[in-house]
Amino acid sequence: MCPSTRMGPDTPALYLRALIETCPIAIVVLDAQHHYTMCNPSFERLFQYTPNELASANLDYLIAGPERLEEAFGLSRKVLQGSRVHAVAQRRRRDGMIVDVEIYGIPLMLDGALSGVYGLYQDVTERNHAKKAVRAMADQLDNLQQEERRRIARELHDSTSQELAVLNWNLTRLRTLVADGDEALKSLVEETKEIAYQCSARIRSASYLLHPPLLGEAGLTLAIPWLAEGFEQRSGIRVMLEMSEGLGRYGDEVEIAVFRIVQEGLSNVMRHSGSTVVKISLYLRDSSLELSVSDEGKGYSSESTTQEPDNKVGVGIRGMRERVEQLGGWFKIESTSQGTKLSAAVPIGVVSRG
Ligand SMILES: Nc1ncnc2c1ncn2[C@@H]1O[C@H](COP(=O)(O)OP(=O)(O)O)[C@@H](O)[C@H]1O
Ligand SMILES: [Mg+2]
Repeated sequence: MCPSTRMGPDTPALYLRALIETCPIAIVVLDAQHHYTMCNPSFERLFQYTPNELASANLDYLIAGPERLEEAFGLSRKVLQGSRVHAVAQRRRRDGMIVDVEIYGIPLMLDGALSGVYGLYQDVTERNHAKKAVRAMADQLDNLQQEERRRIARELHDSTSQELAVLNWNLTRLRTLVADGDEALKSLVEETKEIAYQCSARIRSASYLLHPPLLGEAGLTLAIPWLAEGFEQRSGIRVMLEMSEGLGRYGDEVEIAVFRIVQEGLSNVMRHSGSTVVKISLYLRDSSLELSVSDEGKGYSSESTTQEPDNKVGVGIRGMRERVEQLGGWFKIESTSQGTKLSAAVPIGVVSRG
């Protein structure tokens, strides 16, 4: 413990002192005039100042540095006015190194009067680095997934679809060859041909959904109506689509994000909502593409709520939110027993194609 501690020598005080001294979180105590009173060893270790140095200067000057002084003063002011504060900010160690810290600033009230304040500082630099690494990995995974989708789509389109086309063609020839033959044989060929036709239609649509070629070629203006139409046919759910005219072209990331959000939104409507209609809207507003997918289904739960229920958030919704947030946009879901509305805005950033 720093020498300037004002704890008394009685047992409860010793006990408290031991608690503070061994606490892994950095603690600093200041008086009501914001002068240094004491700190624990974790605080000395984190910021590398000696108690004498801490006592000889304003704490915010020492650990915030000139660039963060306003922000640090702001927090101190609030605590000295009697409010608790909680913030995640950057602070500077004695050696100049910048650390990310989670800060709690707490007023010490004795008999209704402010007798001082104390601050808890937890070093979250590593935690933040780990978060950044996880985010970078998620980005990489997303890229790999896109690449894998493109590969499977190409494979389905270039080989399986071609083989199925030959199969169809052979079956057409077979139909001619058995035209005068037995009825059972003719209907078997007919049935087989129908199955082959269905297979190629499914494979074509799976390949397009995995990697919509229309999106790359013509952008959202054609790809979204195509997605909506295909969805209506497959699901029997009526789709109402409202879009800005002449949407134009945007960067790959933006177009793919919008396409995948609408796609996942529609798939959720089909799988979870029980709605018979869905409305998609996509508009260019200011410098963002704003979109919504709303249904008239049963909602997330039977209780009416406009709060997004965290425990209901699966990979689909989490993935959509992360995609949008990475592009600097926002994402929200409102759900009641009358239906669910997913909305998002994706900043268009740099227009990459004309
Ligand atoms: N349109 C919707 N209507 C009702 N419930 C929905 C809707 N969209 C999502 N949900 C609920 O939210 C959950 C999470 O959705 P999501 O993250 O896409 O994961 P998944 O679709 O794989 O379950 C769903 O399991 C469902 O309970
Ligand atoms: Mg889903």
